[in-house]
Amino acid sequence: ATEAEEKDLVVIGGGVAGYVAAIKAGQAGLKVTCIEKRGALGGTCLNVGCIPSKSLLNNSHMYHSILHDTKNRGIDVGDVKLNLAQMMKAKETSVSGLTKGIEFLFKKNNVEYIKGTGAFTDEHTIAVNLLDGGETSVKGKNIIIATGSEATPFPGLTIDEEKIITSTGAIALQKVPKKMVVIGGGIIGLEMGSVWSRLGSEVTVVEFLGQIGGPGMDNEIAKLTQKLLTKQGMKFKLNTKVMGGDDSGETVKINVEAAKGGKEELLDADVVLVAIGRRPYTAGLNFEKIGLEADDKGRLVIDQEFRTKIPHIRVIGDCTFGPMLAHKAEEEGVAVAEFITKGYGHVNYGAIPSVMYSHPEVAWVGQNEQELKAADVKYKSGSFPFSANSRAKTNLDTEGIVKFLADAETDRILGVHIVGPNAGEMIAEATLALEYGASCEDVARTSHAHPTLSEAFKEAAMATYDKAIHY
Ligand code: FAD
Ligand code: NAI
Repeated sequence: ATEAEEKDLVVIGGGVAGYVAAIKAGQAGLKVTCIEKRGALGGTCLNVGCIPSKSLLNNSHMYHSILHDTKNRGIDVGDVKLNLAQMMKAKETSVSGLTKGIEFLFKKNNVEYIKGTGAFTDEHTIAVNLLDGGETSVKGKNIIIATGSEATPFPGLTIDEEKIITSTGAIALQKVPKKMVVIGGGIIGLEMGSVWSRLGSEVTVVEFLGQIGGPGMDNEIAKLTQKLLTKQGMKFKLNTKVMGGDDSGETVKINVEAAKGGKEELLDADVVLVAIGRRPYTAGLNFEKIGLEADDKGRLVIDQEFRTKIPHIRVIGDCTFGPMLAHKAEEEGVAVAEFITKGYGHVNYGAIPSVMYSHPEVAWVGQNEQELKAADVKYKSGSFPFSANSRAKTNLDTEGIVKFLADAETDRILGVHIVGPNAGEMIAEATLALEYGASCEDVARTSHAHPTLSEAFKEAAMATYDKAIHY
């Protein structure tokens, strides 16, 4: 092993959190090394998460629309066929373009990239098991841990990424399964369930709780979303526990039991997607050896400045607290680099949007109705349906609503919840409003171009403190 010079900053993990921190620190003139074991930068998000899933969501939506939604638009199409291999290739093209883009940004910002697995040997030294064989070690004045997360396994079901899969298998299936059972009706279950349902699978989602959408989704929005996805052909079993499974036969048998009443049922599936959440990934890092701590969920413990109890070692992204989202990881990447280079940084955890890229999309920011009730906050709400929006009508895409929640007295926006076309883009406007402490009236008195979907946003704001015009 060769002993390298001491760097200003060593980042372990080249995912969104890690690569952003490395670039930001590089821009400030620090000598930075980033260690990534995957062989490609961008982490879960670029390689097996956000990007490949969105490629499949977009193209499966197009396929489904061409099959079912062209005649009434005056477009007669001939024989429509799925070329799954090509759809996967298109996905790979998006992924490889973006990961190579980060390598370019590393060069541009003077970030050294080491392909290998890092492990602490002491508070300043990381031993790296190189991907191409051999070892090296790196010393850092500052160290950032950004090792991300992994799928939570389901006890008793062995993941083989073919019959019993996580999201990683779900973005790479080579044929459309006849029947798919999804365990967990959160974001991964609904996004990947949508993809395979559109491509022809019979998809049944088994969810332990009484509502779909995972943590954070507003009750009313979750109910409406479930109705829309059911209309598209997905089946839901809520309040249902998976008791176990048997994958010894041609198909997988999944035992489920109703949470109330205990009624049992046997589900049959060609493929079972396990999507019950993700957990921090810190295996092999040796963090315990140098005295760092994880909580009972495996999250590395940090303070407000992302510092562990060893102050020059900081943690960001999925392997510590907060929502496991790429844009949250990115915010932390910028903030942590600023803490190191300037002594201050900032992330507003109250204004981090969530988007589910189904069709229609579901997006929200701030608090939901059940949270406001639980906290005994006096609020008012207003909503506007896309069925009354002129652009949605011209697009023949009118399902969904925009819903505002605002302080009953001051009219200040507390949360915005959208299910509808383009909700994922529209939520940026809500996030900006929340970030600037806007009232509903501020939004409603802002001119929005006509005819656009964003007028539904403006009118929902208007409906919260007064009456909407078009509904
Ligand atoms: P990661 O992206 O997991 O990166 C950590 C990196 O560290 C990995 O590449 C890993 O190989 C590396 N590493 C780990 N240990 C070591 C070590 N010891 N040495 C060297 N390298 C190491 N979020 C969104 O905001 N929008 C979405 O649309 C979205 N879609 C998703 C879809 C799926 C199917 C999944 C699974 C996730 C999705 N996410 C999405 C979540 C998003 O991917 C994560 O929040 C994000 O990747 C977290 O970034 P990170 O840098 O903290 O961790
Ligand atoms: P999730 O936390 O969103 O949802 C998991 C769901 O599984 C919950 O509804 C939960 O009640 C249910 N569940 C848990 N245990 C169960 C059991 N034993 N049986 C049945 N249901 C059970 O987790 P998911 O969908 O796995 O996604 C993980 C994370 O990845 C998300 O929380 C999100 O942070 C990130 N992600 C984000 C995306 C986006 O932003 N568009 C897309 C995909 C993932």
